[in-house]
Amino acid sequence: MIIAIDGPAAAGKGTLARRLAEHFNLAYLDTGLIYRAVGRKVLDDGADANDAVAAEVVARALVPADLERDGLRTDETAQAASKVSAVPGVRAALLDFQRDFAQAPPAGFQGAVLDGRDIGTVVCPDADVKIFISADVEVRAKRRVKELQDRVGEAIYARVLEDMMERDARDSDRAVSPLEPAADAHTLDTSNLDADQVLATALEIIGSRDE
Ligand code: DC
Repeated sequence: MIIAIDGPAAAGKGTLARRLAEHFNLAYLDTGLIYRAVGRKVLDDGADANDAVAAEVVARALVPADLERDGLRTDETAQAASKVSAVPGVRAALLDFQRDFAQAPPAGFQGAVLDGRDIGTVVCPDADVKIFISADVEVRAKRRVKELQDRVGEAIYARVLEDMMERDARDSDRAVSPLEPAADAHTLDTSNLDADQVLATALEIIGSRDE
C-alpha cells in the first residue's frame, strides 16, 4: 500500500503522514527533508541556493548522513530547499531514491507513506491513495509561528507569513513538478481541523476507497 500526501508548508502533511504510517504500519518518508538536506549542504558549502550547478552536484552526492545534519528545520533551510528543488537536475537526482523507498520499503513494512509536493503527480503516480492537504496561508503561518516559538523561543508572524507566501509561490510556479493536486487526489482543507480531525477525515477517505 502506498499513500501519497502532498500540500504546501505547514498544512499538516507531516503530522498526518506520520499518524497514517503508524495506523497502517507503513514506512514513512518525509521527502521535504531530502530537499532540505540539499539546500542546507549547499549553504554550508558556502554556495548560493540559487546556484543550480552547485545544487545538482550536492544532490548527486547526497548520503543518508546528510539527512541528520543540524539546522534542517530552520526557515533559512526551507527557503534554500525551495530554491534547489526548482532545479530539474536536483529533482532527477532524488527521484529514484524516493521511488525505491515507496516500491521496496524498509524491512518489516508492507508499504509506505510519502509526503511532499509531487508525490501523487510524479514520484508515485500509481499510489493507492492520494491526499492533497491545504489550509489558508494565515492559518499555516500561525501554526509555523507556534512551532518556532515552542522550538526556538521566538518568531515574528509578519516575517513567517511573508516567507511562506514566497515559498508557496516558488513551489507552485516552478516548471518541473510544481505543487499541484494530482487529478485523482482527494483534497482536504485543514484550516478548521485539529490533528485528530484531519486523521479521522483521512481514514474516512481511505475507507471509502475500499467500498
Ligand atoms: O515539506 P518541506 O517544507 O520540508 O519542504 C521544503 C521544500 O522542499 C519545499 O518548499 C519545496 C521542496 N520540496 C519539493 O519540491 N518536493 C517535495 N516532494 C518535497 C519538498
